[in-house]
Amino acid sequence: MFVKYEVNGDVGIITINRPEALNALNSSVLADLAQVLDLVDLEVIRCLIITGAGEKAFIAGADISEMVNMDEAQARGFGESGNALFRKIERFPIPVIAAINGYALGGGNELALSCDIRICSENAVFGQPEAGLGITPGFGGTQRLARVIGSTSKAKELLFTCRNVKAEEAKEIGLVSAVYPLDSLMEEALKMANRIAANAPIAIRNIKTAVNEGLDLSIDEAIRKEVDLFSACFDSEDQKEGMQAFLEKRKDKVFKNR
Ligand code: CAA
Repeated sequence: MFVKYEVNGDVGIITINRPEALNALNSSVLADLAQVLDLVDLEVIRCLIITGAGEKAFIAGADISEMVNMDEAQARGFGESGNALFRKIERFPIPVIAAINGYALGGGNELALSCDIRICSENAVFGQPEAGLGITPGFGGTQRLARVIGSTSKAKELLFTCRNVKAEEAKEIGLVSAVYPLDSLMEEALKMANRIAANAPIAIRNIKTAVNEGLDLSIDEAIRKEVDLFSACFDSEDQKEGMQAFLEKRKDKVFKNR
């Protein structure tokens, strides 16, 4: 098993665990990650963190030794399975934080891009080196990089030059939200996950859907989507609890995911 799963209260922590190959994604790692995502108990877990084993790499990309002899049909299958998995992460019903603890290259950066929030350690290095290997990014990088950083100029510059981006620049261009010393990265990721987990889960889920799906719609359709998801919250016990707790000046509100 190349993927470890731990539970810390109501936060799930997924660790890509193939440090001898800098956590490179081969078919087995992708299959293990898909299996672990299916194990997450959505009745209990309110936020996920994805990180890499070791102190050097989050994920150094798709596995080049597996790809080197692929023909077109095999590459299509590999691309489709990676993309299906990353789309599943992007649409996962609870927030997913990428805690990037080193190299996030190629498929590693693409996995991070499919998460809701990215934070990284000071030694993190990002890049899409694929064109230097004779291929395009294959797990969503040509699509999500520009969407995440909001600049096709910067995205194309990085995709065409294949240059690496260090942590501070990654923050500057909006690729990550924050940079921390490596030894406090997981603590900070957990702090953020716990803050998210303390809010109403149905509201969080609806916010994720509204932001993700709204970006692909016209502003009028997107606003209608928000109205649907906003009003749907009023069918929940958690909306009553959140608002009553405010009005009663109670700090002890309890959200039940109902
Ligand atoms: N695939 C397969 N093996 C990899 C790997 C990868 N992407 N990245 C690292 N490894 C392996 C190395 O081959 C090496 O194995 P051995 O010990 O058996 O030789 C081990 O991990 C350690 O790596 P290095 O010795 O290279 O470590 P380093 O510190 O000298 O360099 C690095 C680190 C700069 C990240 C370098 O490993 C590197 O450039 N890796 C490849 C990065 C890359 O090109 N990623 C994109 C892949 S293509 C892709 O992801 C396509 C897609 O979109 C789907």
